[in-house]
Amino acid sequence: MSDPANSKAPVALTRKPAKPPASPGAGKTACIRTFGCQMNVHDSDRMRRMVTDAGYAEVQTYEEADLVVLNTCYVRENAVDRVKGHLGELSRLKKEGRVKKVALTGCVGAAEEATSLEKTFGVDLVLGTHNTYELAEFVGLPGMEETYTPDLPGMEEGDSAFVTIMTGCNYQCSYCIVPTIRGRMACRPMESIVAEVERLVAGGTKYITLLGQTVDAWRHGGMKFCDLLERVSKAAPRVWFTTSHPSNMEDRTLWAMGGRDTVVGRLHLPVQSGSDRMLKAMHRGYKAERYRRKIEVFREAVPGGTLSTDIIVGHPGETDDDHERTLELVEDCAFDSAYIFKFSPRGGTEAAGMGGRVPDDVVQRRFLQILRAVERNGFEANQRRVGSSEDIYIRRGLSDSGGAIGETWGGHSVRLAHEISCGAEPGDYVRARITSAGPHALYADPGGEPPGGRRR
Ligand code: 5AD
Ligand code: SF4
Repeated sequence: MSDPANSKAPVALTRKPAKPPASPGAGKTACIRTFGCQMNVHDSDRMRRMVTDAGYAEVQTYEEADLVVLNTCYVRENAVDRVKGHLGELSRLKKEGRVKKVALTGCVGAAEEATSLEKTFGVDLVLGTHNTYELAEFVGLPGMEETYTPDLPGMEEGDSAFVTIMTGCNYQCSYCIVPTIRGRMACRPMESIVAEVERLVAGGTKYITLLGQTVDAWRHGGMKFCDLLERVSKAAPRVWFTTSHPSNMEDRTLWAMGGRDTVVGRLHLPVQSGSDRMLKAMHRGYKAERYRRKIEVFREAVPGGTLSTDIIVGHPGETDDDHERTLELVEDCAFDSAYIFKFSPRGGTEAAGMGGRVPDDVVQRRFLQILRAVERNGFEANQRRVGSSEDIYIRRGLSDSGGAIGETWGGHSVRLAHEISCGAEPGDYVRARITSAGPHALYADPGGEPPGGRRR
């Protein structure tokens, strides 16, 4: 999976020591900051494992850290600006003698700008997404190309874990930098994935998320994603997957989601636009009508499930009419939530060189219209859950109020009051009654049922 020929590693790494010191990072501290998607969260977990294997203690602030790893995202322009802000702060801390080393990893590390960022901010190590394993050598461990490949999980603690089932992407969406940075699709064998899931579950992991840019495009040895989902859903007590592509999503996968009681009924299916003209310009490979039909199947197969999407506003050439088509699709599909992105030109993508740029004020107006439509739908759908009793999986506690954030089997986010969560830990289930709802979450306040029970 690793492809050093494709990667950027401008910093010379010391060669493998014959016998490495037992704990090269003993007494040192490391802070890992993650930007962007769940693939990055997972890569950060693997790097966390490398630094802790080397003996570093993890800290949460730059001021306390000897080594800072910035694991970055390149998908939208403001993401790079944010990274620049952090690098500026880190070079100041380095001058003051606090932070000793800075590593820039992830998608910005793999991009052309990395060389200038490295020079401007005095970055010590630049790694792309294909060679994150080289961090191991940087922190004093032996060459770890084999040991820290994407086949291996990150930290094996906590209630939930990401399992990468495929990397890269074979699509060429007009606006997207991912295929350039992450390369073509590579799928892990079914047995390797299932073995990892079984090992994690045996170690106490209760929630597995299958991860990839287009997970439903996964195929290996004559098997397709639905076969994999069936296997994993038997091996793990709770399973989710992201991200899916409408062209790959099979009806039988949607029926499997609804039919297996360990699969969370939440579908994230990016549509990007409701206009066939725009979908064609974006090279998405489907028409709006086909997307609508998929959603009809989902609603039938997974009653009580939740649906989210990604929408890009202001792709070059988008007219008011195209925008209206998107608003119609938003109404028809009644998304529970959506990530709405203003088009951002990424150097090297087809759309960056297209004419017909949409003025900022028009983009802003369209953005708000879509946002309002999605929030209204989400609010109405959430209101319909009020009064229902749910088995809620506890994701994390709320430090200020003592309550917790959880998730229903349909994938709704729930905020539980302290009296309801009653000290439940991440990974526990709490049965509670939904007492109110907002556009983004359900609420379980006193008046709900006491803890106990589980299942949908
Ligand atoms: N501009 C705006 N949004 C983008 N996305 C990807 N590339 C761009 C871009 N250049 C959005 C898409 C994708 C999500 C992860 O990010 O909606 O689904
Ligand atoms: Fe990018 Fe399109 Fe691949 Fe998604 S499917 S990662 S938007 S190229």
